[in-house]
Amino acid sequence: MRLILYLGKGGVGKTTTAAATAARAAELGHRTLVVSTDVAHSLADALDHPLGALPMQLSDRLWGQEVNVLDEVRQHWGELRTYLAGLLRSSRAWRRSSACCISGARRARATSTR
Ligand SMILES: Nc1ncnc2c1ncn2[C@@H]1O[C@H](COP(=O)(O)OP(=O)(O)OP(=O)(O)O)[C@@H](O)[C@H]1O
Ligand SMILES: [Mg+2]
Repeated sequence: MRLILYLGKGGVGKTTTAAATAARAAELGHRTLVVSTDVAHSLADALDHPLGALPMQLSDRLWGQEVNVLDEVRQHWGELRTYLAGLLRSSRAWRRSSACCISGARRARATSTR
């Protein structure tokens, strides 16, 4: 399986390029799913086909999907909360350890200048 992500600032052509890549990949015989995670979707317009929150078959080997980010967050809030809590805990631990390094370095500098 190959995963291709199109990222970049607004209006640079991510959706158009993703749609064109997906259409070409399917044409070359690869089973292809093209997914938009944008809240303001335009993938359906680029593909000229209505899409929904679940994969929709558009041709023999091509599926399209416009993820509903808010629904996904509502559905998976438990997992997200655990992940975010872990992230915050590790960032607090990192701050504590770097604060400890900084105060250690200050102490060492103060001792060496005495
Ligand atoms: N290679 C290209 N040459 C010229 N115009 C292009 C090209 N690719 C995309 N465009 C045009 O640029 C505009 C923005 O393209 P697109 O919507 O794909 O960008 P995007 O990066 O997905 O934007 P957004 O960040 O708003 O989602 C569209 O009008 C599209 O038709
Ligand atoms: Mg886009």
